[in-house]
Amino acid sequence: MDELWPAVEGTTISYISRPPSEIWQREFPRSLVILGSTGSIGRNALRIVTANREAFQIVGLSCARNITSLAAQARQFRPPFLAVLDDEVAGGLKKLLPKNYSPTVFIGSKGYAQMASLPQATTVLAAQVGAAGLRGTVSAALAGKVICLANKESLVLAGHAVREICARTDATVLPVDSEHNALFQCVAGHGQTIRSLILTASGGPFFGKNVDSLRRVTKAQALNHPNWRMGAKISIDSATMMNKGLEIIEASHLYGVPAHNLRVLVHPQSVVHSLAELADGSLLALMGTADMRLPLAHCLLWPRCAQAGANRIDLTSVGALSFHEPDSATFPCLDLARRALESGTDICTVMNAANEAAVELFLNDACSFADIPLLTAKAMENYPKNIRTNTTDTSADPAPATEAWLRHIEELDRASRVFVYSLAKSQSDQTGRNIVRIKPQTAHSGE
Ligand SMILES: NC(=O)c1ccc[n+]([C@@H]2O[C@H](COP(=O)([O-])OP(=O)(O)OC[C@H]3O[C@@H](n4cnc5c(N)ncnc54)[C@H](OP(=O)(O)O)[C@@H]3O)[C@@H](O)[C@H]2O)c1
Repeated sequence: MDELWPAVEGTTISYISRPPSEIWQREFPRSLVILGSTGSIGRNALRIVTANREAFQIVGLSCARNITSLAAQARQFRPPFLAVLDDEVAGGLKKLLPKNYSPTVFIGSKGYAQMASLPQATTVLAAQVGAAGLRGTVSAALAGKVICLANKESLVLAGHAVREICARTDATVLPVDSEHNALFQCVAGHGQTIRSLILTASGGPFFGKNVDSLRRVTKAQALNHPNWRMGAKISIDSATMMNKGLEIIEASHLYGVPAHNLRVLVHPQSVVHSLAELADGSLLALMGTADMRLPLAHCLLWPRCAQAGANRIDLTSVGALSFHEPDSATFPCLDLARRALESGTDICTVMNAANEAAVELFLNDACSFADIPLLTAKAMENYPKNIRTNTTDTSADPAPATEAWLRHIEELDRASRVFVYSLAKSQSDQTGRNIVRIKPQTAHSGE
């Protein structure tokens, strides 16, 4: 792990891995695999590729099931490799591709991992949603790639191990998440000691509401983020503020900062994307429009600073900027994440899986919005007593046996989801309020 600068006092910040090699910095066109190309991040990345066509060669694209969108992308960029969730989806995809184009199609989580380690690509954009993105990120790290990381859940589940692997293989993580990308830009090159890192949060659609009013919110209201257009899962996470909780854990791994030096401030305008506080008390901040093309272009084209297609910001029309302490009584997910970070990797996995399961239930009208933090907290309380696996966590070992700890994380993820589905079902049976009618899923289907 490279130290960015020596600590005189305060917290030393180190990148998760060293900045990408000189060779990569000069590599244009850049050979790129996009895991999750049909999602919100993936589509934005392809807009950047389209606007900078000479700078990229697309090696691989993937989706879970959205083959209509993947086939359209494949027809446009003609990558030699594609990946989808299972054989049936692959069969459907092949029917949508032109006769004179026969890419290799990888299948399932092992297939995504294969695509992330292809020797034909130097750069992997990890943009799958949730725990399902873990194997792709780990595989890219093991293969020494430059990883443009949107999938924050990878670091929540396996931050220690990903850091260890990056240090061993020279893989680099460039953060796509707008807050972490802002921190990356604020701290790089400043020969200063950092006192703290401040993550800004929009507060989501329910900023200023109280616990009572959250019991009645609808799915449409929860998905309607005031500033950002994103996929469904991260939109709900933003509304519960679990997204900021996951980002605290992500930042602690990216920058080696303990939880107590990571602060969250609610900033409803989403103009300041995060701040670094230096030892002398001064603050460095990155400002910009709320457009994911900015951090994406920064990572994909780094160290070039090219047009990303985002609007320029006019500070006179922005008006006042405000900053508030988060309301952790109304939004308990923030504290759950801090507790998980302090308690170790297993509990981070339980929290992440329980939250993903609860969000899935909410999106399927099978629990209320206010149930999401309650179900997540219950799962954390019930670990290890009622959430068990036959495996043990080895991810923090100096040289972890990758397959063993990946299996452990997947087992724990599955057990935590099952716990949440059965708890929600027993609650709905008792109250008759909600009907749990979705089939339990795990993040790792499709093998
Ligand atoms: N959206 C944002 O502005 C934003 C900002 C910061 C960070 N992030 C992070 O970026 C990641 C992606 O977010 P998003 O908003 O782009 O999500 P999204 O719109 O839901 O897209 C998710 C992508 O992952 C694929 N996928 C879904 N389930 C999968 C599975 N089980 N296995 C493999 N692939 C699967 C989807 O394929 P299908 O299309 O076939 O479903 C799609 O390509 C998340 O970790 C999120 O936290 C997003």
